[in-house]
Amino acid sequence: MEDLKLALLGFGNAAQAFAEMLMEKEEEIRQVYGRGVRVTAITAPSKGTILDSQGIDLKKVLADARSAGRFAEDTAGLCTRNTLQVIEQADCDAVCELTPLYIEDGQPAIDHIRRAFQCGKHVVSANKGPIAWAYDELKQEAEEKGLMFFYETTVMDGTPVFNLVEKTLKFCRVTEVSGILNSTTNYILEELAAGKEYGEILEAGKKLGFIEADPAMDIDGFDAAAKVTALLNVLMNAGITPADVDRTGIGDITAEDIRKAAERGKVIKLLCEGRRTENGIAARVKPVEVDQSDMLASIDSTTSVVSITTDLMGKLSVIEHQPDLRQTAYGIFGDVIRLLDGQQR
Ligand SMILES: NC(=O)c1ccc[n+]([C@@H]2O[C@H](COP(=O)([O-])OP(=O)(O)OC[C@H]3O[C@@H](n4cnc5c(N)ncnc54)[C@H](OP(=O)(O)O)[C@@H]3O)[C@@H](O)[C@H]2O)c1
Repeated sequence: MEDLKLALLGFGNAAQAFAEMLMEKEEEIRQVYGRGVRVTAITAPSKGTILDSQGIDLKKVLADARSAGRFAEDTAGLCTRNTLQVIEQADCDAVCELTPLYIEDGQPAIDHIRRAFQCGKHVVSANKGPIAWAYDELKQEAEEKGLMFFYETTVMDGTPVFNLVEKTLKFCRVTEVSGILNSTTNYILEELAAGKEYGEILEAGKKLGFIEADPAMDIDGFDAAAKVTALLNVLMNAGITPADVDRTGIGDITAEDIRKAAERGKVIKLLCEGRRTENGIAARVKPVEVDQSDMLASIDSTTSVVSITTDLMGKLSVIEHQPDLRQTAYGIFGDVIRLLDGQQR
């Protein structure tokens, strides 16, 4: 059988970690499926574009991207194309959307996925923008064309959330979701509690790679709102956008608030919640005080948790413990393996 051919849109942290995982498991995949996974296109604005049906030498492009910040001139298939042209022209079965999140409207990633479906290509997205802003439309487009569309990485990296519900909780109706979905806010609140100033925390967090260049994404709850929207759209057919989320960030929380909460036996956490009400879906991101004995109080540092309430299986929670890029890579990898499984049928 022919290899599964992939185009990678973006070659940043997530894509590079995924490329490494693909190399690590190359032989095992071939043994299990009798075919491999071949990357035939990569594009990233500052690194360049490569189109090579024979399969890109991942080891070389990783080394070049890391040492020089761009693909070397001697790379086979190096060319000049924009992202939409790559989607149209790449010799690939599937497109991996690994470009940055633009929280305001999910673009240009939504257009990338639309174009991929128009070209008859399956899609794996690590980018939550399209799931938060255009899930229904994209899902419908994929279904109409008989294409696969997977996005496990978008909420808790490789931790099974969508797969869990779809594959393991069959016939369960999800009635509520909640969780601490933005772990950066754990870090900020913990550092505040330790007596550090906001400016100092943000600077250190950026250096450690915890905090985005634009800290408002985390502090003002935009990232958390996009994640709870994605959960609600996929698990509860909510049909909402991040603009529908009642959102309060942690920007107004002071060290004094945290100290007073502790005196009452409480911890402050940025909680995401969504449930069905008589008036439709209610979604909220808000700092709340939880009991120190509550499971949520133990979700600290870069750990995150999602709880899913269902009619048949009650409430269950999944915790992702201190992830790094490997968990992100696994989310993308797992979705690509689902493509192989889907094509076997
Ligand atoms: N990092 C994580 O742990 C993590 C976890 C879950 C989900 N995600 C999601 O995964 C996606 C990628 O994250 P990342 O950490 O890899 O980001 P990143 O390191 O900033 O990399 C983004 C890549 O996309 C490229 N790019 C930017 N605009 C593009 C366009 N229009 N067309 C094609 N490529 C474009 C960038 O090009 P240059 O190389 O030229 O800058 C870069 O290579 C994001 O949506 C993120 O939210 C990431």
